[in-house]
Amino acid sequence: MAKAAVRLDPTRTGRAAATLAEDLRSRVVGQDEAIRQVVDVYQTYLAGLSAPGRPVGSFLFLGPTGSGKTRLVEAVAESLAGGAAAAIKIDCTEFQHSHEISKLIGSPPGYLGHRETQPLLTQEALDKRRTSAVKLSFVLFDEIEKASDALWNLLLGILDKATLTLGDNRRVDFSRAAIFMTGNLGAAEMSAILQPGMGFAAAGTQRAAAVDAGLEAKISRAGVEAARRRFTAEFMNRIDKTVVFKPLGEAELNLILDLELEIVRRRILDSSAAPFAFSLTQPAREFLLREGTDPRYGARHLKRAIDRHLVSPLSSLIASGQAHGGDRISIDFDAGTAPLLFFRTPRGLPEAGLSVAA
Ligand SMILES: Nc1ncnc2c1ncn2[C@@H]1O[C@H](COP(=O)(O)OP(=O)(O)OP(=O)(O)O)[C@@H](O)[C@H]1O
Ligand SMILES: [Mg+2]
Repeated sequence: MAKAAVRLDPTRTGRAAATLAEDLRSRVVGQDEAIRQVVDVYQTYLAGLSAPGRPVGSFLFLGPTGSGKTRLVEAVAESLAGGAAAAIKIDCTEFQHSHEISKLIGSPPGYLGHRETQPLLTQEALDKRRTSAVKLSFVLFDEIEKASDALWNLLLGILDKATLTLGDNRRVDFSRAAIFMTGNLGAAEMSAILQPGMGFAAAGTQRAAAVDAGLEAKISRAGVEAARRRFTAEFMNRIDKTVVFKPLGEAELNLILDLELEIVRRRILDSSAAPFAFSLTQPAREFLLREGTDPRYGARHLKRAIDRHLVSPLSSLIASGQAHGGDRISIDFDAGTAPLLFFRTPRGLPEAGLSVAA
């Protein structure tokens, strides 16, 4: 008797892919569709079913500024290659002229400077960033719309044949690389959708509200249409996944603040023999969110606001001997000249106010 066929469920992910998805979601907030696409490609790679002779995956990330496009690529490298630095990052604005392209691929033998500079995109550069666990390299072309024609041709070759020819004719194999490209195309249209009639100055004072599904769909369409206008069909057809990132609402920005504060906490734990703890009141958190986020720039300036208003004053307090390892520092908000107020609780005593030199 023939055995009954068992219906299979291709929507279920494998354990390695599920772990990656979970890890990425813990680092990147509110961009689940982008994460899903990355995990999908990773799973295809793990199954050995990636198309031969092409990069393992190629992604075009579009969407508003400060929404996590670059952050997601760093997060992939953190998850799969041991650190954000494992991703080779090429800022397309820096390679506009032919002599700058040679920083990427080197110059032909005999040219001035041929031996002096090691090109960025060599086989060794790709290989050395691979871990033995995940034998993949991650290459990010940031701000792709600014790429010069020379860089463009180079990129088309990588996407199409997974090879790059260096200045001295050596070949670099990209068939074990994932290529990420990010762009700001359609950014102006997106801001107009997010804040109709809003001027530049007013935008800075606005809080990001939750973004509804209708708005999200409009933003997504604006991104894809702008990309189609700017890029040739030949290029768009070579990209495996085009994802438009979502604008971040207040809930997401709050979660990102938590992530960034956690990073500061870990830094304190890792760097200090006698670490101290800190906590923020709700008004202090709101202050950092006001300073570091807005609808136009997303979370782009959040790190800077945290450095300026939190990390730097904390460092002064340690340097001036007002706070020590083992202390608990609580941080409140005051609208005066030094907006964040710092209080120390030295083991069992009432809180003492600390002063931070401006
Ligand atoms: N979705 C997110 N999840 C976690 N952190 C985020 C997210 N979006 C932004 N951030 C924070 O803001 C910073 C800037 O984000 P990122 O560099 O990814 O912006 P981007 O989308 O690449 O913008 P741009 O188009 O201007 O390059 C990140 O380093 C991170 O601290
Ligand atoms: Mg970016």
